[in-house]
Amino acid sequence: MYAQMVKSDGPSDAELSPEERAFQARIDAGEKIEPKEWMPEGYRKTLIRQIGQHAHSEIVGQLPEGNWITRAPTLERKAILLAKVQDEAGHGLYLYSAAETLGVSRDELFEKLHSGKMKYSSIFNYPTLSWADMGAIGWLVDGAAIMNQVPLQRTSYGPYARAMVRICKEESFHQRQGYSIMMKMARGTEAQREMAQDALNRFWYPSLMMFGPSDKDSVHSAQSMAWKIKMNTNDELRQKFVDETVPQAEYLGLTVPDPDLSWNEDRGHYDFTQPDWDEFFEVLRGNGPCNEERLGARVKAWDDGAWFRDGLNAYADKAAARRLAAKTAAE
Ligand code: 3HC
Repeated sequence: MYAQMVKSDGPSDAELSPEERAFQARIDAGEKIEPKEWMPEGYRKTLIRQIGQHAHSEIVGQLPEGNWITRAPTLERKAILLAKVQDEAGHGLYLYSAAETLGVSRDELFEKLHSGKMKYSSIFNYPTLSWADMGAIGWLVDGAAIMNQVPLQRTSYGPYARAMVRICKEESFHQRQGYSIMMKMARGTEAQREMAQDALNRFWYPSLMMFGPSDKDSVHSAQSMAWKIKMNTNDELRQKFVDETVPQAEYLGLTVPDPDLSWNEDRGHYDFTQPDWDEFFEVLRGNGPCNEERLGARVKAWDDGAWFRDGLNAYADKAAARRLAAKTAAE
């Protein structure tokens, strides 16, 4: 596959340095790359970009759901949602730690998020308007996240692959809690069923966008797949998601908001309408319904925490000075 990819998208085999060729041979043999080992600068940068953006998505992803913790309909649902949102914080932390092994600091990653130089998943720029949205997010958004992240357990960079194992286990519970909310609502009163349908209507296309632009517009896929940073193309995973999710919607008795959705016997897949890619790129440019609010919340949290970071640093400086003084006195 690599040879085929590099012909159109990167340097030919002959253009690779001996180190790069040896590195690619390790990737092709399925070896994991570990933090202190030699790697091409492009591989390191691509990983920092992808892992960093993934970490930011987990952290920003807490906001739309956090919005509903105080309004969950029962104590049990509240406890479950609280635990889920805490899981997302944990995912962010594993991923920031994995990114740090590549030589980037967490502060640098935050600065890039806050200044708009790094992205987070487009999906979190949509509002959560009703309790049914908690169901739709768990079912569709975590469902799409799992579809993308299960293959990443086999990604070539060791710390990222290992972080994904635990994350995927937790994400599958998230998906099931979302589906459980949808089951309850889709089979509840007429008003609840309408809320569930409305949530599906609003989250369907933004969930399809989570997989990234169509393959022809994906700038990084070819090289990232050659390096086994990505294991599948964006369109492959989007199709897999549609194929698995449509029967789940049918089971709920809900209608996927796509009049052209149909099973294609020859392909063995569903044919479906692509999301509005203009809308996707607008959201990426910062013009989605909640971009300002989401980024604003993260910047505020960072600014509000300045006194605490300053306190930690002052304490660390004093402790170091005390240790030095004790050592000097003992000599
Ligand atoms: N939202 C925001 N930006 C996106 C995007 C999306 N849904 N899809 C693609 N992009 C951006 C890319 O980052 C890239 O921009 P950049 O060069 O500035 O980084 C550009 O669009 C072109 O897209 P490509 O297809 O070339 O980019 P990638 O090869 O990086 O593929 C990806 C995009 C499939 C999202 C890939 O990065 C990936 O698999 N990332 C890891 C998984 C991840 O980040 N998931 C976040 C989902 S949310 C989540 O996990 C939280 C959970 O709790 C629900």
